[in-house]
Amino acid sequence: MGPVGIVRMLSTLVRRDLPPLRMQELGRDYPRIASIGTAKQQAFLVSHPDLVRELLVVQAKAVEKGPALLSAGVLMGEGLLTLRNAPHKPRRRLVNPSFHHSRIAGYAEVMVSATDALDRRWAALRPGTEIDLAQEMSALTLQIVGQALFGADLGEQAEDVYRSLELAMSGWEKTLVPGGERLLQIPLPVFRRMWGAKAALDGVVERLVRRAQEHRGDDVVSGLLESLSEDEVRAEAMTLMLAGHETTANSLTWTWHLLSRSPKVAALLRQEVVGTEPTYAGLRDLPFTTACIAEGMRLYPPAWILEREVTEDLVLDGYVIPRGSIVVASQYALHRDPRWWRDPETFDPTRWLVDGRFDEDAPGQPRGAWFPFGAGTRQCIGESFAWAEAVLVLARLARHWAPQSLRDPKLHAAVTLRPEGGLPARLMAAPH
Ligand code: HEM
Repeated sequence: MGPVGIVRMLSTLVRRDLPPLRMQELGRDYPRIASIGTAKQQAFLVSHPDLVRELLVVQAKAVEKGPALLSAGVLMGEGLLTLRNAPHKPRRRLVNPSFHHSRIAGYAEVMVSATDALDRRWAALRPGTEIDLAQEMSALTLQIVGQALFGADLGEQAEDVYRSLELAMSGWEKTLVPGGERLLQIPLPVFRRMWGAKAALDGVVERLVRRAQEHRGDDVVSGLLESLSEDEVRAEAMTLMLAGHETTANSLTWTWHLLSRSPKVAALLRQEVVGTEPTYAGLRDLPFTTACIAEGMRLYPPAWILEREVTEDLVLDGYVIPRGSIVVASQYALHRDPRWWRDPETFDPTRWLVDGRFDEDAPGQPRGAWFPFGAGTRQCIGESFAWAEAVLVLARLARHWAPQSLRDPKLHAAVTLRPEGGLPARLMAAPH
């Protein structure tokens, strides 16, 4: 492999062995590409923006989703997130209209009303009540995705979905060792709990699908039922339900945490939102709120790593990466790389502003150094949905609330980057 760094790992791509901080370290030692595989499985980490673009965009045809995500297919079924490229293309075409920008305005009404319902619920609590922000944000985003995309009220299922997802992810993480799929057949408690959690999630989706069959509306599931088999519809509904709430919930949770640790930034945010009525039509009037969300996703990208499997030999940085290899790129590492970001570890939303306007290019980073939503043909379908949602939720709640985090949580790098053990916080009214 010549000068490519050879880093021996105990096992390949066990995410616990390659946590986000380790990715950062590897990027420092091997600033472009590192070999991180084992004798049995070749694997590479790309740490340069140009190579991220090569992997996700330029040479996207030579790669498929990697095994870690595909094994999540055991839980989710084959939906947009996990499908192979060939069946993905027509499926994406089918689902795209539901995320067309003309639809987002309607979804935003749901975002606003669900947020205001939470606002009222918080107002009924004693000041200083301890809440788990991670759970609160997850329940809110689940409610939003349920109502917006499925026309269904998932409020009552929120706690069940939150717990089930946690159990399902813990089980899934244990399978990320070579040959891990076989472990699933062993009746260990962790897998029994995982299957139980999967059954609970399946139950929620089953109800969504049955509901759509009974009352065909203009929701996504009703639309999919026209062209897909029931199994395919279930997998897609599960994908949209999980991918559509867990990531945005994490983005909001981490942003609250950062705001709680940066009173000056929180005061600037309040200056923008207090006394206003934030709506979808007025998103452009929320540059600082938008910058807070961007800065939260820079420091704590909900999707912290992307993985691909090479299906045709490809050349990266002059090296032949043979078919069968795994290549990963980490948003966590790239988003904090001092080569592209000034004061990379500092929470500074103003880096995203130019003349008071929010601009994703404002920090001056090269393309490929900022990819919270991925890139190329597999780029997040819910990106506009997520921006609208995160900004509206934060803007509306920050008018009245300044929750104070009770600890600095460790990273729990599962499929998404979560605060380990949730985010306990004291619910405090926003100071005047
Ligand atoms: C802050 C919020 C979000 C983040 C950070 C995020 C991140 C991502 C990333 C990085 C990918 C690409 C994965 C890869 O290339 O392997 C992705 C794909 C996807 N996301 Fe999101 N996402 C967010 C919100 C949403 C929402 C709100 C929805 C739906 C309502 C959604 C649905 C999906 C789907 C279906 C895919 C697969 C797309 C495809 O391959 O065609 N996401 N997301």
